[in-house]
Amino acid sequence: MKLKKLMAGVMVGIMAFSMAACSGGSAETEGPETQQQSDASGESKTVGISMPTQSLERWNRDGSYLKQQFESKGYTVELTYSDNKIDQQVKDIEGLIAGEIDLLVIAAIDGQALSQVLKDAKDLEIPVISYDRLINNTDVISYYVSFDNYKVGQLQGQFVVDTLELNLDDTSKKYNIEFTAGDPADNNAPFFFNGAFDVLKPYIDAGILNVPSGQTEFQQVATKAWDTATALTRFQNILGSNYSGGTQLDIALCSNDSTALGVTQAIDSDYAGTNKVLITGQDGDEANLANIVDGKQTMTVYKAVANEAIATLDLGVALLNGETPDESLISNSGWDFECIYDTESYDNGTGTIPSYLLTPTVITKDNIQTELVDTGYYTLDENGYPKGVQ
Ligand code: BGC
Repeated sequence: MKLKKLMAGVMVGIMAFSMAACSGGSAETEGPETQQQSDASGESKTVGISMPTQSLERWNRDGSYLKQQFESKGYTVELTYSDNKIDQQVKDIEGLIAGEIDLLVIAAIDGQALSQVLKDAKDLEIPVISYDRLINNTDVISYYVSFDNYKVGQLQGQFVVDTLELNLDDTSKKYNIEFTAGDPADNNAPFFFNGAFDVLKPYIDAGILNVPSGQTEFQQVATKAWDTATALTRFQNILGSNYSGGTQLDIALCSNDSTALGVTQAIDSDYAGTNKVLITGQDGDEANLANIVDGKQTMTVYKAVANEAIATLDLGVALLNGETPDESLISNSGWDFECIYDTESYDNGTGTIPSYLLTPTVITKDNIQTELVDTGYYTLDENGYPKGVQ
C-alpha cells in the first residue's frame, strides 16, 4: 500500500495492450500513456485478482490478460494463484482484502467455499466480480462474467450429432460413447455436462448412442480438480471394464481439455480398437491443439479469455466509478465480440446474479488458422503447432 501512496497522482507509462485480438476493446482506446486511477485521497486504486491455479493452462492466460487490462488503465493489480487449494484461496483473498483493494475479481476453486471470507469484502463495500466461475451462497457478488457455459456443452454435443450425422429417424447406425466431466466444486462443470447431455439424450433414449459403462450421471463422470491424471486413470478403468472384449469406442465426450488430455492418453495406452475416437474438449490448451493438429483430439471449444478480460475491465471500471452497470455496458463499451446480458440463468443461492456471457467457438483442425492464428491469439511454431501469445 506504500506503493499506492508513492505513486498517487503520478503519470505512469504503461504500454497499451495491443493484441489484434482485442481491437475494438477498451485496451486500445487509449495511447501508451495512461493516467493512474486514484481515489478521492489521491491514492491509486488497486484491483485484487484471485485465480485458482497455474497448473491448468488457461488461468495463466486469464491472470495475465486481466493484469494487463487493468494496468493499461492505470490501476495497480495484485494477482494471486492458489495452487488449486481452497484454504490457500481463502488466505489469498484475506490478504488481498487486508491490502485495501478497491475491487475483487475472483475465479473460485470451490464455488461454495468463499462466502465466509467474502463477508469482509461486504463489510468494506468492496465490489466483487465472480470471474468465469460463479461463487455461491453469498450476496456480496455484484456481477458474473463468463462464457455461456451451457452453450459450451451444447456445442460439444451438437458437434457429435453433426459429425456422425446422427438422425433420430435412423436407428440402424449405433455408436458407443463415454462421458468425462469436470470438478463438482466448480459451478460451471454441471452446466457443461448438462449442455452436452441434453443434446445427446434423445439419441441415447433412441438407442443410437450407447454408454457401455452405464455412467451417465454428472457425479459418476466428474473429475476432481479437472485433473488430467485422474481423468486418465478413470478412463483406463472404463476401457478395461467395458472395451477389452473388442467393443468399439466411438466418442469420448470430455468437458474440457485437461480431462480430454488424460482420456486421450488412456485411449493411446489402453484401447485395443483401431478406429479414430471422436474426442471433444474445451479451452484450446496447447497440448490439446497439438493433438487436434495430429488428429488425436477432434475438437475443442475455444473461449477467448482475452475478451473475457476486456469485459471484466469495463465492468470493473464501472463498479469502481460507483455505477450500477446493466445491459447498456455492452453497447457503451463498443466490444467487437458477442456478449449477452443475462439476469435469469445464474442463481447463486441468494438470488440471480446479473451476468455478462460471452460466446464460445468450436475449433477443429480446419479452422485453427482462421480462428486462433489470424485473430492473434496463437502463433504456429516451426512444427505447425499453435502456441498461445500469452
Ligand atoms: C473453466 C474451463 C476450464 C475448467 C478447468 C472451468 O471453470 O470455465 O474453461 O477448462 O474450469 O480449468
